[in-house]
Amino acid sequence: RHCFSKGEDGFLYCDGVRVQDVMEGVERSPFYLYSKDQITRNVEAYKEALQGLRSVVGYAIKANNNLKILEHLRGLGCGAVLVSGNELRLALAAGFDPKRCIFNGNGKMLEDLVLAAEKEVFVNVDSEFDLENIVTAARVVGKRVPVLLRINPDVDPQVHPYVATGNKTSKFGIRNEKLQWFLDAVKTHSSEINLVGVHCHLGSTITKTKQNRLITKVDIFRDAAVLMVNFIDQIRAQGFQLEYLNIGGGLGIDYHHTGAVLPTPMDLINTVRELVLSRDLTLIIEPGRSLIANTCCLVNKVTGVKTNGTKNFIVIDGSMAELIRPSLYGAYQHIDLVSPPAADAHVATFDVVGPVCESADFLGKDRELPTPAKGTGLVVHDAGAYCMSMASTYNLKLRPPEYWVDNGSVVKIRHGEKMEDFTRFFDGL
Ligand code: LLP
Repeated sequence: RHCFSKGEDGFLYCDGVRVQDVMEGVERSPFYLYSKDQITRNVEAYKEALQGLRSVVGYAIKANNNLKILEHLRGLGCGAVLVSGNELRLALAAGFDPKRCIFNGNGKMLEDLVLAAEKEVFVNVDSEFDLENIVTAARVVGKRVPVLLRINPDVDPQVHPYVATGNKTSKFGIRNEKLQWFLDAVKTHSSEINLVGVHCHLGSTITKTKQNRLITKVDIFRDAAVLMVNFIDQIRAQGFQLEYLNIGGGLGIDYHHTGAVLPTPMDLINTVRELVLSRDLTLIIEPGRSLIANTCCLVNKVTGVKTNGTKNFIVIDGSMAELIRPSLYGAYQHIDLVSPPAADAHVATFDVVGPVCESADFLGKDRELPTPAKGTGLVVHDAGAYCMSMASTYNLKLRPPEYWVDNGSVVKIRHGEKMEDFTRFFDGL
């Protein structure tokens, strides 16, 4: 059961609400439309998978930072994974328990570490200088900071190089040959830092090999967990009381809508369950995409259709400013019309493009679609993760409003950005 589906009348629905009706009722286009229930179901899938384990589901806020969504996720029992002081502030505003928050990143700022130390969130140690800053932050606030060492496991996740993070020349984490240096440093600074666990993150969108073959076994999570548990054994042998294994995020979703069987949270957790139990650990996971991506569409309107040479274009009002993943990573996101085509609509192959002044501005390439009339609704699916949170105001396209379907009603969960929000930056200068 998925929140977005075609009805018998040929219209697209979100949890029983016709997307066409939503379009007609809201103030502007494009806009993001979420299913609150789908978010709940996605969290439940993780909770069910984690039964029998001590665990923290740390939602990666970078994937989507809508405050209403964060409050909902917090209400469902999630913790939060943060990569900046502002994400930490937002997590606190959303009511997340700081003791279920993890502060990550290769370039954490000292002032943000001070806030993290003050609030007693877990901090991942990423480098020598990061450790130094954490020690300084601990001294500033006079509290001992609970830390995890982010170890770079050198496992190839076989994903787009921009989102692979756990290979040996990545900018993230520490290499295992430096482990002893870090353990000694932790011992030296035992009044400032308390080593409580280890962390790794392999990369994002883990579903496929480079050859586009499906990995169905989430083997690489197990490979990484085996390595990490070895590190835990070594570290414990030196007298540290480690409790946490953090295996990061990364589970992919079915962006292609092929109906292929993809790894589920249950598959992922089952590959590491025995290891976690055998060492009496608390498992931390950091999902972003797999919690939020499939809960949302970007809803656009067709501005017009044109042909240049052999290329057909559908021009819509949405663009790379609202949704940059296709332009930035060549990512595929499924595209659909929200209403049934006219009986005589000619089916053709189109590039779906926005109005932004550059050729990178596309949402989809070579999509077979019925030729839409002006004003037809067109959705880009799976737009819940890394879409709104990566939106820009390029070409002065203001950030779109967001709505969710909650119990059959459409509720605004974020205002669209307005011209006065933009001009305010120049007030009084
Ligand atoms: N933990 C760490 C340390 C991470 O770096 C990330 C994502 C996550 C967790 C969450 O990963 P997820 O479960 O969402 O795959 N903008 C790109 C994705 C960048 C991911 C960055 N790190 C995209 O649009 O595909």
